[in-house]
Amino acid sequence: MSSTDTADEHVNAEWWRQAVVYQIYPRSFADSDGDGLGDVRGIISRVPYLRELAVDAVWLSPFYPSALADGGYDVDDYRNVDPRLGSLDDFDHMVASLHAAGIKIFVDIVPNHSSNRHEWFQAALASPEGSPERDRYLFRDGRGEHGELPPNDWPSHFGPSAWTRTTNADGTPGQWYLHLFAPEQPDFNWDNPDVEADFIRTLRFWSDRGVDGFRIDVAHALKKDMSEPYKPVPTIGIMSDYPIDGSHPLFDRDDLYEVYRSWRAVFNEYDPPRVAVAEAMVPVERRVNYARADTLGQAFNFDLLGTPWRADEFRSTIARSLELAHSTESSSTWTLSNHDIVRHATRFGLPNETHLDTWLLTNGTEPPVDHEQATRRARAAAMLLLALPGSVYLYQGEELGLLEVADLPVEALQDPIWLRDAGARKGRDGARVPLPWTPEAPGYGFTTGTAHLPMPSWFADFAVESQRGEAGSTLELYRDALHARRELQTSEGLTWLDHSDNVLWFRRENGWNSLTNFGAESIVAPVGEVILASAPIAGDVVPAESTIWFRS
Ligand code: NOJ
Repeated sequence: MSSTDTADEHVNAEWWRQAVVYQIYPRSFADSDGDGLGDVRGIISRVPYLRELAVDAVWLSPFYPSALADGGYDVDDYRNVDPRLGSLDDFDHMVASLHAAGIKIFVDIVPNHSSNRHEWFQAALASPEGSPERDRYLFRDGRGEHGELPPNDWPSHFGPSAWTRTTNADGTPGQWYLHLFAPEQPDFNWDNPDVEADFIRTLRFWSDRGVDGFRIDVAHALKKDMSEPYKPVPTIGIMSDYPIDGSHPLFDRDDLYEVYRSWRAVFNEYDPPRVAVAEAMVPVERRVNYARADTLGQAFNFDLLGTPWRADEFRSTIARSLELAHSTESSSTWTLSNHDIVRHATRFGLPNETHLDTWLLTNGTEPPVDHEQATRRARAAAMLLLALPGSVYLYQGEELGLLEVADLPVEALQDPIWLRDAGARKGRDGARVPLPWTPEAPGYGFTTGTAHLPMPSWFADFAVESQRGEAGSTLELYRDALHARRELQTSEGLTWLDHSDNVLWFRRENGWNSLTNFGAESIVAPVGEVILASAPIAGDVVPAESTIWFRS
């Protein structure tokens, strides 16, 4: 999409199909007031950086008032800004400033659960069993003679049980409530009309403030089969275990799509229509249901997160994703990293079979990361993704080649995965350490105070100021690739071209070729007029683990 396209109404409505969306984790992006937490004014101060980088949109992880029991995915108030991060006025300025720079904005909607501090949950706790206030959440009586056992044995994502018992006003133990995540994140009852109406109000609230799109958190979990006897849920979070017929009691139930059809009607009231992308952790066959034009329109494709570094594996994953997107007339999304997983540069520096949770428990020492391999592969993979049809979601810091901070001291950890799982898993904080803008310790241009997660000394080499203008730096590679992509990207598909086993080569209709050498040895390939390469090239020699774009 070139900058002139924004004037064209038709292209404008379709902007999301080929967009490069940059994920901002607001509390770790830029801190304007020295309290160690990133904030909205910090984002405003970095709009020139985002414009220079040439991203089409940003997606903001939650910035709402929150006690941060789950990094902000425990929302106290869906229609406000955490006062530590700014105000609604600041938000409006941020939208205006992004739009003036030609950048669209997605916000995160968290509809499966609120925080336990949300006024509705507080009202529910203060109201009697069976009251309308309690019906907005999933309260149930316990089992056992005195209700002392949870209603069933469903597990939560962050710990052993999905149920927590309440205490009545007189101090006696009360009912239990369901939470698929932390106890501070009670699940809503999506069969209650108040819940439905309130989320429609939230979608309108942000759309009216100029928000262009929404990322829908845990989009697959809203509707639940709470009928008794309860259906068994032996594991949670393992998508391959989920049935594909909508019969799971907690996930991906068919009546969910009705909710999203009503949201679509709201999105389409706007001009251009607001867009949405589903975080739907479901088997691939079912992902399409979230990506249809009459539901959310697009769904995250996380398939490359677990794809081993092999040309044939990447090719089959990409081909299947393109087919699925085509079948719904959506466009595919591509992503390598987000705030929930070990940064991909680090993953690429580890053997394919590394069990990441176990590796994190060794503070990232066993096995050690091969830093050169990490950088080579991360650069090659980024260029490969950016050459594909569809939209690409980048995670803040990947443009710096940033690695996971695997040795955060346990006292610094904030993730409920660590806190709730009795230290069995270290969790996601290592991917959420604030961005280094300058090489100066201790705040690295992120803060003048103390960063909310400690920033390591090696961040100096990765800082924006250490890379800006440096030929060959990862930041310059991303900028060059994103600028070139603006000129080259089309909505057309691709043609696979065969070469040798370790090579993934495809051509777009306009003659734009992307060739990735996955192998450990350089190869000779018939490259034409070179546009960009992830590693220095000489003539027809494509170095090991590199991607080259060329015209033919
Ligand atoms: C998915 C979000 O990406 C993750 O960070 C969060 O913990 C869960 N949903 C619960 O909201």
